[in-house]
Amino acid sequence: MVSPIKCVNIRVHKGAIKTSIALFVGFVFGIFIGLSFPALPLTKMNLPSNLVPSIDHKIPSIYSRHLKSDRHMSKEFRKLNENRKIWIPTNPRGAERLPSRIIESQSDFYLRRLWGLPYHDLSMKPKYLVTFTVGYDQRHNIDKSIKKFSENFTIVLFHYDDRISEWNQFEWSKRAIHISASKQTKWWYAKRFLHPDIVASYDYIFIWDEDLGLKHFDAEEYLKIVKKYGLEISQPGVDQSSSYTWEMTRRRDGVEVHKEAEEKDGWCSNPPVPPCAAFVEIMAPVFSRDAWRCVWHMIQNDLVHGWGLDFALRKCVESAHEKIGVVDAQWIIHKSIPSLNNQGQAESGREPWEGVRERCHEEWEMFKSRMTYAEKKLKFDI
Ligand SMILES: *[C@@H]1O[C@H](CO)[C@@H](O)[C@H](O)[C@H]1NC(C)=O
Repeated sequence: MVSPIKCVNIRVHKGAIKTSIALFVGFVFGIFIGLSFPALPLTKMNLPSNLVPSIDHKIPSIYSRHLKSDRHMSKEFRKLNENRKIWIPTNPRGAERLPSRIIESQSDFYLRRLWGLPYHDLSMKPKYLVTFTVGYDQRHNIDKSIKKFSENFTIVLFHYDDRISEWNQFEWSKRAIHISASKQTKWWYAKRFLHPDIVASYDYIFIWDEDLGLKHFDAEEYLKIVKKYGLEISQPGVDQSSSYTWEMTRRRDGVEVHKEAEEKDGWCSNPPVPPCAAFVEIMAPVFSRDAWRCVWHMIQNDLVHGWGLDFALRKCVESAHEKIGVVDAQWIIHKSIPSLNNQGQAESGREPWEGVRERCHEEWEMFKSRMTYAEKKLKFDI
C-alpha cells in the first residue's frame, strides 16, 4: 500500500506550493490595494483562516515555517498583515475575495472517476454537446439518433416522463448525462442546465427534439459544413415529405447550405427577415458557443415552449443573414410525434394537446411584446 500514501503526499505538496504562491501574491496585491484604495468597502480577508487548519493538519513542516515567520514579524508588519484585504474587482462578481488563480468560472459535463489522478481521468474531451428532450416511449428513435453522434459528443438527455433507469438498456446510456424533471420542455431544461458557463467547453451545442429521423444525417459531416460556411446558428434541412412549418427550413436538392427562402405572400420583406432569412426553427437548432451565450440570455424563465425565439435568434448574431442557415447536405425527417403535447391536462372538455397549443401561441405573443418593450427600453409586466 505504498502508492496511495505517495499519492497523497504528492497532492499535498503541490497544493502547498500553490497555496504559498497564492498567499504571497495575495499578500502583495493586498498591500497594493490597501494603499491605493483605502476607501473601498472592504471586508476582512478570510483566505488564510480557511486554509490554515487543513494545511496545518496535513503538512505541518511546510506550513509551520510560515507560522513561525509570522510570529517573528514586527508589530507594525503584523498589524498590516492582519488588516490586509483582498478585493480583486476583475474577479467574477461575488468572488472578489478569492485569489484569481483558484477561480474556475466555467465547467463542463465530462464524467470523471472516483479514483486515480484527476488529470488521467479523461482520455479525450468531447468538443461538442448534443441534448435530446425525451420520453421513454421514444427510446428506439433516440437510440438510433444517438448513434449518429460520434465519441466527440457529450450526450445529455432531459427526461420529462420520470423514467430514467430504464434507459440503461442502451450501451451508450452510461456515458450520457441524464437530467429528469417532470413534464418540462426543452427550453425549460436548457435555461436551467445549459448555462453558457457550464457548457463553455463545447464548440457547438445541439438542442434537439426527440421526434427527428436521422437516417440521412451524420453529425461530424454536418459540423464540417457548418464550419466551412461559418454558421453560428444552423439546422439540418427538413425532408420535404415530412411536416415543416416554414419554407426556409425545407431541404433543397443540389446545394450544401441555403440562407434565404421565399414565403407565401406578405411574409417576406425586402431585405428579407425571419422567416425568410436569418432564421431556423426551434426543433433542431445548432448553436456555436458564442451564439449560445447570447441566446441563453434571451430565453425567458416562464415561456417554456420557446415559440417566437426562432424569430429573434438573429439578434444574437452579427451579420445574421450570412451566419444563420440551413444545411441541406445533411438532413432530417420531422416525425411530428406530439409526445410532450399529450402531457398537458384535459380541461373543460378539451383534449390535453389543445391547452398546450393554446399556451404556445400565447407565449409567442408575450415574447413578442416583451421584446418590443425591451427594445424601447420600456418596463413591462406581461
Ligand atoms: C473526433 O474528433 C477528432 C479530432 O477533431 C477527429 O480526428 C475524429 O475524426 C473525430 N471522430 C469522428 C468519428 O469523426
